[in-house]
Amino acid sequence: MALAKPQSGKHKYAIIHLLTEQANNYASQLGAYFFNPDFAIGFGFKQKGLAMLSTEKITLSFGKRILFEDVSIKFAPGNCYGLIGANGSGKSTFLKILSGEIEPTKGTVSFSPNERIAVLKQNHFEFDECPVLRTVIMGHKQLYSIMQERDEIYAKETFSDEDGMRVAHLESDFGHFNGWEAESEAAKLLSGLEIPEALHEKKMKELTGSEKVRVLLAQALFGNPDIILMDEPTNNLDIETINWLEDFLLDFKNTVIVVSHDRHFLDKVCTHVADIDYNHIALFTGNYSFWREASQLALTQKSDYNKKMETKIEELKAFIARFSANASKAKQATSRRNLLDKITLEDIKPSSRRYPYAFFKQSREAGNDMLMVDSLNKTAADGTVLLKDLTFTIKKSEKVAFVGRNRIAVSSLLQILAGEEESDSGEFKWGITTTQEYFPKDNSKYFTEQINLVDWLRQFSKEKSENFIRGFLGKMLFSGEETQKMIVHLSGGEKVRCMLSKMMLTEANVLLFDEPTNHLDLESISALNEGLEAFAGTILFSSHDHQFVQTIANRIIEVTPNGFIDKLMTYDEYLADERVKNLREELYK
Ligand SMILES: Nc1ncnc2c1ncn2[C@@H]1O[C@H](COP(=O)(O)OP(=O)(O)O)[C@@H](O)[C@H]1O
Ligand SMILES: [Mg+2]
Repeated sequence: MALAKPQSGKHKYAIIHLLTEQANNYASQLGAYFFNPDFAIGFGFKQKGLAMLSTEKITLSFGKRILFEDVSIKFAPGNCYGLIGANGSGKSTFLKILSGEIEPTKGTVSFSPNERIAVLKQNHFEFDECPVLRTVIMGHKQLYSIMQERDEIYAKETFSDEDGMRVAHLESDFGHFNGWEAESEAAKLLSGLEIPEALHEKKMKELTGSEKVRVLLAQALFGNPDIILMDEPTNNLDIETINWLEDFLLDFKNTVIVVSHDRHFLDKVCTHVADIDYNHIALFTGNYSFWREASQLALTQKSDYNKKMETKIEELKAFIARFSANASKAKQATSRRNLLDKITLEDIKPSSRRYPYAFFKQSREAGNDMLMVDSLNKTAADGTVLLKDLTFTIKKSEKVAFVGRNRIAVSSLLQILAGEEESDSGEFKWGITTTQEYFPKDNSKYFTEQINLVDWLRQFSKEKSENFIRGFLGKMLFSGEETQKMIVHLSGGEKVRCMLSKMMLTEANVLLFDEPTNHLDLESISALNEGLEAFAGTILFSSHDHQFVQTIANRIIEVTPNGFIDKLMTYDEYLADERVKNLREELYK
């Protein structure tokens, strides 16, 4: 395999350099550790003959904005790469370059001719009008277009000689792609993904969200592609389906390249992290937590590099030790530990990412009585039961995650508690010493006026001075001129950061959050996560981010159409609890 020539110094992003004499020995163990071309040569890829996807000096700009500059990267077979990068850094664009959907300005993408790339579609509504089985077959583009053209010709009333020849040609291609088996293959895949036969001829729009995702996955898997590309596959999925997808990918043998903002997901499935930063992509072995730890170390220790070297190694060792305590990662940690003696750390380029800071203070502590909820009932306009005789009492400093298969039910409960919606029956009462602040899932009604960020946030503050207001915007990374932006022009993620500034500023002792991590990048999610873990007050929240729920909540309340489950335990304990499992079966019947 031809490898790119070594690049000049500016292409160096080495996080950990192996001593060269050891490099080859470790190459197979590590897989592709790091894809600086200098390194690639040192490693001498051993997987020759196996399928490999690579790019050669990809450059892409949109107008004046350069997204990628000379990106040469190789994705080795069998690995799972988590593609990460700030909002707008080009993750989706890079996947589109790999799949051939868009052409780079310069450079090439290569993979062997008999390799096939499949894409897991992000838009769950794209195939709404299409039958399930057909949606799966569409995953094999060539085969599907043959089928379409063939069917069109057969549907003609008159049939020319030309048509006859064309059809003969198409039939031969159809056979070549094993077209006669397509339907039974697709059906087999679907059944394997627990989509029962009864659904195979239904239209996609008749399926639940979780079923659709599995059909789209079957579509991506149809014809056994060598490489699957996924752009934020966990968006809009409930945690159970995400867990299912995680397990599926752990067992999947071929190459996966996945964009995600879900840390639990990235940590569980990724063998490598591909980080888009400074218009380049750097590869690291290990999962997201490992990458984050290493890059934060780099950030805090970038000055005085030599002096800090020892500490850095110690910290990495400690991190690796922590890693190895986790059984699922023990194998990775062991191989890393073996390497540690042989490595020197050098030239860690700190990430250009900026980490927001979330700190929630209570202006006064609440007394013991926080919230009493008694027999709340709520039915949606379409007759779906959302809440059924929901009853609970919240004590001081409890951090409660509301979960449930129906997201609307959870949102509805938080809206009722925030006073934005009424229940059909039942009542609730906040303790007199409590103050609540609510973060809605849909914040659009907060952002309709023609005012700038400072004036917007000032509305919610007793202290009106500009400096005070700017302080809270600054924590969420709005500074300088940005604070003068009109709020109507903000992106989804920026609006969420504004809402978080507001949550911090008001210093309530009860915080209600409905899906706060939507639209946020990994840095902001981590910052918010840490802020809420540290908060001394009470939190009532919902989130589909597994790690978020696991690290914040000490109590889980699940709302179902037939009642509720209320457990003082962590989310992982909740998911593993047999009694809970049985209860859930009953309550969702
Ligand atoms: N077709 C396009 N024309 C111009 N700009 C685009 C186009 N597609 C994406 N962009 C811009 O390129 C940047 C990267 O977009 P994208 O790949 O979607 O980012 P990410 O997925 O990392 O959030 C963004 O600033 C986006 O606005
Ligand atoms: Mg994207």
